[in-house]
Amino acid sequence: MKNIAVLVSGGGTNLQALIDAQNDGIIKSGKITCVISSNPDAYALERARNNNIDTAVIRRKDFETFPEYDLALTELLKSKGADLVVLAGFMTILGHQVISKFENRMINIHPALIPSFCGEGYYGLNVHKAVLKKGVKLSGATTHFVTEECDAGPIIMQRAVEVKNDDTPETLQRRIMENVEWKILPLSVELFCSDKITVKDNKTYIID
Ligand code: GRF
Repeated sequence: MKNIAVLVSGGGTNLQALIDAQNDGIIKSGKITCVISSNPDAYALERARNNNIDTAVIRRKDFETFPEYDLALTELLKSKGADLVVLAGFMTILGHQVISKFENRMINIHPALIPSFCGEGYYGLNVHKAVLKKGVKLSGATTHFVTEECDAGPIIMQRAVEVKNDDTPETLQRRIMENVEWKILPLSVELFCSDKITVKDNKTYIID
């Protein structure tokens, strides 16, 4: 059974999808053992507490330098015995130490089809605004392992949804969350926890 740590900053609907998947037996080879937030007021923390999951808060602004913060987060995750780290809407930039410590053991969910609409500045509603501005007909979400280059690590799963003519950033975001994010994140986590993902040359190979 793998130990899963989930990093959050906001509402935590993706965290909720992971908790529900665990309760429904979709995630069966791992257990969410702690939720770590960059924001003490994140509703995601409430979701964790409601499910008796251990919580912690770590804020960048409480550390003088970025390397000190990077080290503290790495040590915190180590102290929790995390085998897998899931970024579920975590809004603080991660450093070299934590990323290298969890190489191919840290999964992020990005609300677009990478390599489109990703990288610096593409977060939250900005992603969906850019999608609508460009007029693409499909968008979706991507799970991937985290590397030091933003949104560029090995892709685990992707699924698409239709972009509609009358979409607003909010309606598109909601469709992507409901139809893609809340499904592929738990599935990707279970694939990892059941040792079904291998990585070679920045690509993943999934064992069926
Ligand atoms: C999601 O859209 C996710 O793709 C992105 O941040 C958002 C988090 O939402 N990385 P929530 O906190 O899980 O509701």
